[in-house]
Amino acid sequence: MEEFKKWSSFLLPYKFALDELKTKINIMVEEAKYMKDYSMIEHIKTRLKSPKSIISKLERKGFSPVITEAKNHLFDIAGLRIVCSFSSDVYEIYNMLLKRKDIKVLEVKDYIRFPKPNGYQSLHMIIEIPITLSDRVENVYVEIQIRTLAMDFWASLEHKIYYKYNKEIPDHLKIELKDAADTAKLMDEKMRTIRDEVQLLENSKGWLLTPKN
Ligand code: GTP
Ligand code: MG
Repeated sequence: MEEFKKWSSFLLPYKFALDELKTKINIMVEEAKYMKDYSMIEHIKTRLKSPKSIISKLERKGFSPVITEAKNHLFDIAGLRIVCSFSSDVYEIYNMLLKRKDIKVLEVKDYIRFPKPNGYQSLHMIIEIPITLSDRVENVYVEIQIRTLAMDFWASLEHKIYYKYNKEIPDHLKIELKDAADTAKLMDEKMRTIRDEVQLLENSKGWLLTPKN
């Protein structure tokens, strides 16, 4: 098989894993919507690493740039990002994923409780999911990132700012970025408090209107 064909067939189960996982999460969230009356997620984004970036990551990590090494050592060939409305939703979705019998959680990194020094916040999981193909079952790794809109806003722009800038960024700009991350966190907290208060108002209204018998 020519090289290009080999890589595309290697990547196929990863694509299927993303398709399946996205459907599972959408079903989970839609079911929860019946209880909550709102959707916990704003959107889900998936991405598959290209052979070119798989090869450069393998080289960077000191592995040889071949498919077997990619299969055994890279856990983020398939990536799925869940962007939630409120910070409480991040952990709710995380707990739902933990409980599932069809998903094996291999690693968790909580950059929300423990943000990176630059301010980056997100909840990361590496999971393993079995994908049934016509002639075999493949276990596939997927990196899941769960974050709020505010965390996603910061991370997306920070990535854009750094992209293609290979030099060390000046200290005062690092401080500014960290400051922006703290602002994003405050915004999450504020929105959550407002949501909780509106919820309380809504509940007490229901209570006042319910006739006693
Ligand atoms: P990698 O070798 O990059 O996979 O590092 P790692 O295995 O230590 O993974 P980690 O969980 O720290 O981060 C993996 C992914 O999270 C990255 O590919 C980014 O998508 C995201 N990420 C981590 N840190 C940052 C950050 O400081 N800024 C932004 N914008 N994204 C980040
Ligand atoms: Mg990684």
